[in-house]
Amino acid sequence: MNIQTENDKIPQHIAIIMDGNGRWATEKGLPRTEGHRQGAKNVRVILEHAKERGVKYVTLYAFSSENWNRPKEEVNVLMELFRKYLKEDVADLQKNKVCVSFIGDRARFPEDMQERMNEVERETADYDDFHVVLALSYGARDDMIAAIKRIAMDAMDRKCMISAINEQVVNDALSTHGIPYPDLVIRTSGEQRLSNFLLWEIAYAELYFTPIYWPDFNEQDLDIAIEAYGRRNRRFGKV
Ligand code: FPP
Repeated sequence: MNIQTENDKIPQHIAIIMDGNGRWATEKGLPRTEGHRQGAKNVRVILEHAKERGVKYVTLYAFSSENWNRPKEEVNVLMELFRKYLKEDVADLQKNKVCVSFIGDRARFPEDMQERMNEVERETADYDDFHVVLALSYGARDDMIAAIKRIAMDAMDRKCMISAINEQVVNDALSTHGIPYPDLVIRTSGEQRLSNFLLWEIAYAELYFTPIYWPDFNEQDLDIAIEAYGRRNRRFGKV
């Protein structure tokens, strides 16, 4: 059993499934895309507050590999939102010396967005106070398949012995390499699923579900989630 210390009460890494934008909008008689716009605005609020509370890493599930199957118009609006977010909000994060990185299949995005993602990662790589990881076109199974292929290639090229494959080797082959495992996963909107998000990385994370829709999830709600986390007795599979 792991004994918690005072410091453990603040999760080092929070991963968030930002769900409920569509329902938030529909219930207000607005188009679903308005929910995404409001959701995008809320990202800034929650990131700022997480940083203030001493959280070091926040990973946001912004677009899953399955989300490409949504109606074309909705995908288009999301692309425009991401493009704007990359240009404006991410520039502010850069100014504030936040390390920003991306996980997921960025090859599926238009070239200008891919270039911007690469540029941001390059320019913010040395910042270490606060890290934001944006999961875009991300799916945990796809990420694990890519990792398995990398490890298999290394084994074939005799760069890695099969007997030497361990947790660290797998971690290093995933797109989340170098990022500590999430301590807390938050999913908004009442759904209680992981939806192919960071499956390997959250093996021992605490899960927190709230009925609040993402656009309404505010600083106080984040505090409540952090408090709930602080009351848990964490176990990591070892007695
Ligand atoms: C889930 O709501 C949310 C998404 C598919 C996209 C998440 C995107 C944002 C919060 C906005 C942009 C983010 C950034 C980082 C700029 P849903 O549409 O599945 O809601 P529903 O379940 O109520 O239909």
